Amino acid sequence: MTDTDPHFLVLGAGSVGKRHMQNLGALGCQVSAMDPRADRLAEARDSAGAVECFQDLDAVDDWSRFDGVVIGSPPSFHVDQAIAALEQGKPVLMEKPLAPTLVDSKRLADYLAANPSAPPVLLGYTYRWWPPLVDFRERLATGDLGAVRHVKFVMSAQLADWHPWERYQDFFMSSRELGGGALLDESHFIDLMYWFFGMPESITARVEKLSTLEITSDDNVDIIATYPDNLRVTIHLDLYGRPHEKYIRASGESRSLEWSFDPSRLRYSEAMGDEWEETGYEFERNDMFVAVAREFIDVVNGKVVPGCTITDGINVMRIIEACRQSSDQGKTITMEQP
Ligand SMILES: NC(=O)c1ccc[n+]([C@@H]2O[C@H](COP(=O)([O-])OP(=O)(O)OC[C@H]3O[C@@H](n4cnc5c(N)ncnc54)[C@H](O)[C@@H]3O)[C@@H](O)[C@H]2O)c1
Repeated sequence: MTDTDPHFLVLGAGSVGKRHMQNLGALGCQVSAMDPRADRLAEARDSAGAVECFQDLDAVDDWSRFDGVVIGSPPSFHVDQAIAALEQGKPVLMEKPLAPTLVDSKRLADYLAANPSAPPVLLGYTYRWWPPLVDFRERLATGDLGAVRHVKFVMSAQLADWHPWERYQDFFMSSRELGGGALLDESHFIDLMYWFFGMPESITARVEKLSTLEITSDDNVDIIATYPDNLRVTIHLDLYGRPHEKYIRASGESRSLEWSFDPSRLRYSEAMGDEWEETGYEFERNDMFVAVAREFIDVVNGKVVPGCTITDGINVMRIIEACRQSSDQGKTITMEQP
């Protein structure tokens, strides 16, 4: 490590923040950390070699030593922290979702519109960097499923299992105010729908709290999205399911294509029964975070432009807001096309 290595300030030294610090460190960067919790900063020092630690963003006196900022705090802080970093002229790697609400997210979009020479922002919808899903998207685009009529997304994971080192009630995911809940946090799959197919024509959804989990956020989301050419997408997200499941199945008129996270595979079938042609993958979950970290370093060095942008994040937030409206008003929401 030398003084000329890129140096990143990571805001939030929790689960994802430490992961980003460790990955950036392994890629030869220096890292520093900001977190209001002293214990999290101690962990950042011990497990990720954080050079400097701050308990408050206002305590950062000299920004010139940082080449970029990574935002891994709860979603309610994302927009203000992104604007603070951009004001200091620093590129940002921002964890998803953009913010708890569309209105909050638009403050960042407005800032960027008013400051066209602001540094770049890379948004961390990390499943876009997961090789089996890159293959899934390419395969969909080849048309060899025939006309695709239905795509089903399922993400189901009991919240109490997510962070075994803490009570789930103390994790931001339990708090509606901090930006927790299935709709916002598992919006990975809303982003994937948008990445595969663009903005839907309409959204019908229920966003609910169904389980006995002691949380103020939602824990059950069911979405029906309609697209042109008779394509329908359904998304189910929940925080109570065991065993955990993450899969996507596309049904075309000729064949079906299915991705699952565990087992890590793509499989295809045109048979009537349970007969599949299968491709397995050996990647580890951390590989997608390493890929994002590499892309961020390239963004900071001006070698590439961000592959997942604030515009993408705003469009995901528009779908999220439509889900809430549909659920509250009991009606189908027609989406404006971007
Ligand atoms: N891309 C992914 O796959 C992925 C995976 C995990 C988490 N995330 C996202 O990362 C963010 C954090 O999730 P997590 O699981 O690491 O949560 P976490 O609770 O483990 O960590 C959040 C940390 O932020 C700290 N914090 C609280 N207020 C802060 C503030 N004002 N400024 C800076 N830090 C503050 C907390 O003390 C905590 O240490 C969320 O937006 C989440 O959706 C993304």
